[in-house]
Amino acid sequence: MHIVHVSVEMAPIAKVGGLGDVVTSLSRAVQDLGHTVDIILPKYDILNLSNVKDFHFRRSFAWGGMEIKVWFGKVEGLSVYFLEPLNGMFSVGCVYGRHNDAERFGFFCHAALEFLLQSGSRPDILHCHDWSSAPVAWLFKENYLQYGLSNARVVFTIHNLEFGIHQIGRAMQAADMATTVSHTYSREVSGNPAISPHLYKFHGILNGIDPDIWDPCNDQYIPVPYTPENVVEGKRAAKEALQQKLGLKRSDEPLVGIITRLTVQKGIHLIKHAIGRTLERNGQVVLLGSAPDPRIQNDFVNLKNELQSSHNNSARLCLTYDEPLSHLIYAGADMILVPSIFEPCGLTQLIAMRYGSIPVVRRTGGLYDTVFDVDNDKERARAVGLEPNGFSFDGADTSGVDYALNRAITAWYDAREWFNSLYRRVMEQDWSWNRPALDYLELYHSARK
Ligand code: ADP
Ligand code: GLC
Repeated sequence: MHIVHVSVEMAPIAKVGGLGDVVTSLSRAVQDLGHTVDIILPKYDILNLSNVKDFHFRRSFAWGGMEIKVWFGKVEGLSVYFLEPLNGMFSVGCVYGRHNDAERFGFFCHAALEFLLQSGSRPDILHCHDWSSAPVAWLFKENYLQYGLSNARVVFTIHNLEFGIHQIGRAMQAADMATTVSHTYSREVSGNPAISPHLYKFHGILNGIDPDIWDPCNDQYIPVPYTPENVVEGKRAAKEALQQKLGLKRSDEPLVGIITRLTVQKGIHLIKHAIGRTLERNGQVVLLGSAPDPRIQNDFVNLKNELQSSHNNSARLCLTYDEPLSHLIYAGADMILVPSIFEPCGLTQLIAMRYGSIPVVRRTGGLYDTVFDVDNDKERARAVGLEPNGFSFDGADTSGVDYALNRAITAWYDAREWFNSLYRRVMEQDWSWNRPALDYLELYHSARK
């Protein structure tokens, strides 16, 4: 099968959040199963070109009264076509955040379809994502289905229903099949008026992570490679490196990592509370996060200054986006906290487990589907063939997060051997695309029936 993803994000060259990770890792998994996968992406000025192999100009074509250059390159082994409209609409220093984002991405989607048509490409599946490439679904039905691209079927994936509900509603209607990124989130949003008329073609397929991209046994950003067999030593070395890098106290204390976009979705009030609570319980905290909203960013800058002025060397707030540092935190932390108010899937808890860090999460969306509480979810875990793998809580007030965090920290201090075996257990669980990629292929096939 020939699958073309039209996307505005792609890890590691143009990643804002999990959407970028998923476009790359799902594509690699499907390609590994013997299919042809291409990706069409805007040619941003901020592309990280050092990660693009064999980058070169291919051709140009005219559409919408404009010349559009097409560049080609290989990213993580995938063929990527970069579209560059010559008016510079993607040379604005960012992926999102301009007043005319909808217009820019709408143009990009139209140009992507035009490029496929004009270049003679005849994909079987067009896969578009979220509000930003949703226009592919209806533009295809309105303008291209009856022309040269008639062989294609459109699959639309919702990664987050919070943004662009108007575009999402139109794409839900036009797409042949639609998915979202976990079963529980698919249930949570099934009553939404943009979704409910289309439940017959709407499926929850859990995201995976790419085990080669996130691999503690082969990771240039951590000091000692490790597998489940030497996880305790590997994580100790990573923790020491992290403590040293950030000027944290070099002592043997449980370290809680938080790696997130700082938005209301991610449970900001719970994150702030958890920082204080961890310090009270003699733990350390490293937060790596950046806030698109300057007010939230400011709030965290103030918290960082407060912690600094009290000479606290048990907490560090790194208020930026930093991929290499994220790897060291995933490896060096004992626990990764994800207290999201809602979470369509969440990748941080999956990456955490790959690095033997224990997830502490709020029970919502994909967090509920992937984290099974060691005290409360034994049966639910066994029903899906797993052993419990973390700590979780309900509710959106601080008592919930306290309940989960207190148990995790207490276990770390009082039951070290058991905690060490938990590192091993979570590392051995398979959160890769092995299973979900097959689910996508089945869905692609059924879209073609
Ligand atoms: P979302 O897409 O809602 O932000 P996910 O959990 O699906 O949440 O994916 C987040 C991805 O972005 C993960 O790969 C995580 O490691 C990464 N990430 C989030 N914040 C940062 C940051 N400040 N620096 C580096 N990586 C980050
Ligand atoms: C979105 C969601 C996140 C999900 C990611 C990738 O950004 O917020 O839960 O993991 O997309 O699908």
